Amino acid sequence: MASELIDRFGRVHTDLRISVTDRCNFRCQYCMPAEGMQWLDRSDILTFEEIERVSRVLVDRFGVRSIRLTGGEPTVRARLSVLVAKLAKLGVDLSMTTNGATLGMFAHDLRSAGLQRINISLDTLDRQRFIDLTRRDELPKVLEGIDAALAAGFHPVKVNAVLMRGINDDEIVPFLRLGREKGLTVRFIEFMPLDAQGEWSGDRVVPYDEILQQARQEFDFEPIARGTSPAERFAYTDGTGEFGVIASVTEPFCESCDRIRLTAEGQIRNCLFALEHVDLRQLLRNGGTDDDIARAVAGEVDRKWAGHAIGQVHFLRPSKSMSQLGG
Ligand code: GTP
Ligand code: 5AD
Ligand code: SF4
Repeated sequence: MASELIDRFGRVHTDLRISVTDRCNFRCQYCMPAEGMQWLDRSDILTFEEIERVSRVLVDRFGVRSIRLTGGEPTVRARLSVLVAKLAKLGVDLSMTTNGATLGMFAHDLRSAGLQRINISLDTLDRQRFIDLTRRDELPKVLEGIDAALAAGFHPVKVNAVLMRGINDDEIVPFLRLGREKGLTVRFIEFMPLDAQGEWSGDRVVPYDEILQQARQEFDFEPIARGTSPAERFAYTDGTGEFGVIASVTEPFCESCDRIRLTAEGQIRNCLFALEHVDLRQLLRNGGTDDDIARAVAGEVDRKWAGHAIGQVHFLRPSKSMSQLGG
């Protein structure tokens, strides 16, 4: 077996995204129906020991270097810092993507347990819009959560805003101002066809060029090296930090994609838009060896396609929503 998770296009996979729960404390419009989802049963989701085992196999055998915890909302999973402490021992770049509402409570513990970086999803700075978008009146809590993450010493703290035409496309400059004031890296994300309601259409996307054009009206900045992150990065010329744009739709970054996903129920998915998966839970619970796990994951990576093909006639939306895939 190869010692790297390499696909037939030569892409080496070193970035593992683990969804630790499908549950969420918000009900975001673009993510789930108002009545919520049919959550997985407790017994269906991987235990911390199972998650740790899969992670260890991928780190030891294939040189996986970074692990990001996602959800649903990861902090909804009880005793998350216990899992963080286990994964921190693997010596990877350990991070989490969260909606931020519970960070006032958990940021400090997560940091002490060994979490290194936090990205916070926040699509509007307007209280009423926030209620409309998330069906929760928790903007103040999220803003508190951002402050708690900074106070706990996380660096960088990134804020991810998905831009949607007619909903929050007038908030680019306010988000950038907030980022500069607080020392956050704000990243604008193009809206992808992964919404639960199937309401996505190309004209809802606020494209990369337009985001930069609006930002330029107020600030001076220059592009900087991108690294492995999906974000194009820009540094303010006055030295007050940086912001980014994740142009998943107009400038897909699939050709440099290095990520694989483990879902809460133990599926390995080789792409956010994958239509298939391999079931590791079954292996884990039926006496599968580390070799079996490694072989199953390597096989799934090998099958990976060139990219997502949004906007092309053969594009098929996955049957899972972002809350189940972990973003
Ligand atoms: P950093 O390592 O901090 O740059 O994190 P990240 O940007 O990789 O992770 P994050 O969870 O913050 O993801 C930000 C956004 O990028 C997500 O909300 C998605 O919209 C998008 N995204 C993440 N992973 C993928 C991916 O594999 N494919 C595509 N097309 N978009 C992705
Ligand atoms: N397109 C782009 N990003 C999305 N997210 C959720 N749905 C979409 C979508 N359709 C983002 C969230 C969060 C991350 C987990 O995924 O805002 O930042
Ligand atoms: Fe990678 Fe798929 Fe995302 Fe493209 S759409 S960057 S191939 S996960």
